[in-house]
Amino acid sequence: SLSALLINQPDNESLRTASESKDKHSNSLFGMGNPLLDICAIVDKDFLDKYTLKPNDQILAEDKHKELFEEIVKKFKVEYHAGGATQNSIKIAQWMIQQPHKVGTFFGCIGKDKFGEILKEKAKEAHIDAHYYEQDEEPTGTCAACITADNRSLVANLAAANCYKKEKHLDLEENWQLVEKAKVYYIAGFFLTVSLESILKVAKHASENNKLFCLNLSAPFICQFFKDNLMQVMPYVDVLFGNETEATAFAKEQEFETEDTKEIAKKAQALPKVNSKRHRIVVLTQGKDETVIASSDKVKTFPVLKIDPKDIVDTNGAGDAFVGGFLSELVQEKPLDQCVKAAHYAANVIIRRAGCTFPEKPDFK
Ligand SMILES: Nc1ncnc2c1ncn2[C@@H]1O[C@H](COP(=O)(O)OP(=O)(O)OP(=O)(O)O)[C@@H](O)[C@H]1O
Ligand SMILES: *[C@@H]1O[C@H](CO)[C@@H](O)[C@H](O)[C@H]1NC(C)=O
Ligand SMILES: *[C@@H]1O[C@H](CO)[C@@H](O)[C@H](O)[C@H]1NC(C)=O
Ligand SMILES: *[C@@H]1O[C@H](CO)[C@@H](O)[C@H](O)[C@H]1NC(C)=O
Repeated sequence: SLSALLINQPDNESLRTASESKDKHSNSLFGMGNPLLDICAIVDKDFLDKYTLKPNDQILAEDKHKELFEEIVKKFKVEYHAGGATQNSIKIAQWMIQQPHKVGTFFGCIGKDKFGEILKEKAKEAHIDAHYYEQDEEPTGTCAACITADNRSLVANLAAANCYKKEKHLDLEENWQLVEKAKVYYIAGFFLTVSLESILKVAKHASENNKLFCLNLSAPFICQFFKDNLMQVMPYVDVLFGNETEATAFAKEQEFETEDTKEIAKKAQALPKVNSKRHRIVVLTQGKDETVIASSDKVKTFPVLKIDPKDIVDTNGAGDAFVGGFLSELVQEKPLDQCVKAAHYAANVIIRRAGCTFPEKPDFK
C-alpha cells in the first residue's frame, strides 16, 4: 500500500493557524520540464497546405514551419494556454487542489520575448508558482494546435525549452530553496533530452531525504534513444508513469521478454532502487482499459470511468491530466486508491473538452 510510501508527519492540523497550514502546503509539489506556450486556432485548409501539415498529426517544427507561429497569430483568432507535458500535469494538480494557490512549483526555460510574457501570465492565471530560466538566445517554446473541423494538427517547437541549464537556474539559492520545500517531485521523460544533470540533482535530493520522486516514460523514443539517461535516473524513481505503448517500448529495450502490461509493470517495479525505505510503484494506463499498478507485493487493476464515445471530444492531454490528478492526492498523502480515483476523474474531465482545458472547479470528492 501507498501509506508505507508516504512521509509520516504528525497530524497537528487543528493546532496550526490558517497561515501556517497554508505555508505547509505551498510549493509541496515540484515539476520541471519543457514549458511551451500552446497556441490554438481554427485554421483553414490553405494554412495546412502552406505548411504541408496533415489534418491529424503531431510533429516537431522544422525550418519550413518557422513563420507558422507568427502567421497563425496574425491570421486567426488564437487562444493561449500554458502548456508542455509536465507543466500541464502541475496545472491540473493545482486545479484539483484549488486552495491554497501555488502548491505546484514549475521550473523550465523560456525566451525573453512576447510569447514568454504571455506564458508567464497564463501560468499565473493557473495559480502555479512558475520560475522560468529566461535567456535570450532562443525564443520561448510553442505548440500550435491547428484545428480544422474534428481534426487537429500539433506543431511543437521546443526552442528555449531545450536550453535549461542547471548552473544557471536550478543551482541558484532562491530556486534550490523551492526544491527543498517540496515533498513530491514530478518530471516527464521528455526532459531527459534537455538536462539529465538537473533531473539527477532533484532525484538524489528526493532519495536522500526520503521524499517521492516521480517520472514519466513519456514516449517510445525516450525509452529507445535516451535509454542510458533514463536508466541513470531509474534507481531514484519512486513512482513510474507510462501508457501501454511506452511500457511496451520500455520492455523491449530492457529485454523483459513480455508484452503483457501486468508483467511489464512487475518487472519495472523490481528494477534496482537506491532508497530502499520505499518500494517503487509503477502506474500504466491503457486508454479506455483498466489502469495497471504494480507495488511491492502485487499487481492491481483499476477500471477507468466509463464514458459514452460520443462525449469524447479530444483525448490529447488525457495522460497529462491522469498524472496531474494522481499527484494532487499523492501530495496530500492520500492512499493509492484515492490517487487513482483522482487520476481517472481528471482524465475523464479533460477528454470531454478540446485541448488540455478544464472547467472552473473540479467536482471530485
Ligand atoms: N476512450 C477512453 N475512455 C475512457 N477513458 C479514457 C479513454 N481514453 C483515455 N481515457 C482516460 O485517460 C487516461 C489516460 O489515457 P491514455 O492511456 O490513452 O493516455 P495517453 O495515451 O498517454 O494520453 P495522451 O493522449 O495524452 O498521450 C486513461 O487512464 C483514462 O482514465
Ligand atoms: C480529418 O482528417 C482525416 C485524416 O486524418 C481526413 O480523412 C478528414 O477528411 C479530415 N477532415 C477534415 C474536415 O479536414
Ligand atoms: C501512448 O502515448 C504515445 C505517445 O508516447 C502515443 O503515441 C500512443 O498513442 C499512446 N497509446 C495509447 C494506447 O493511448
Ligand atoms: C505519462 O504517463 C501517463 C499515465 O501513465 C501516460 O498516459 C502519458 O502518456 C505519459 N505522458 C507524458 C506526456 O509524459
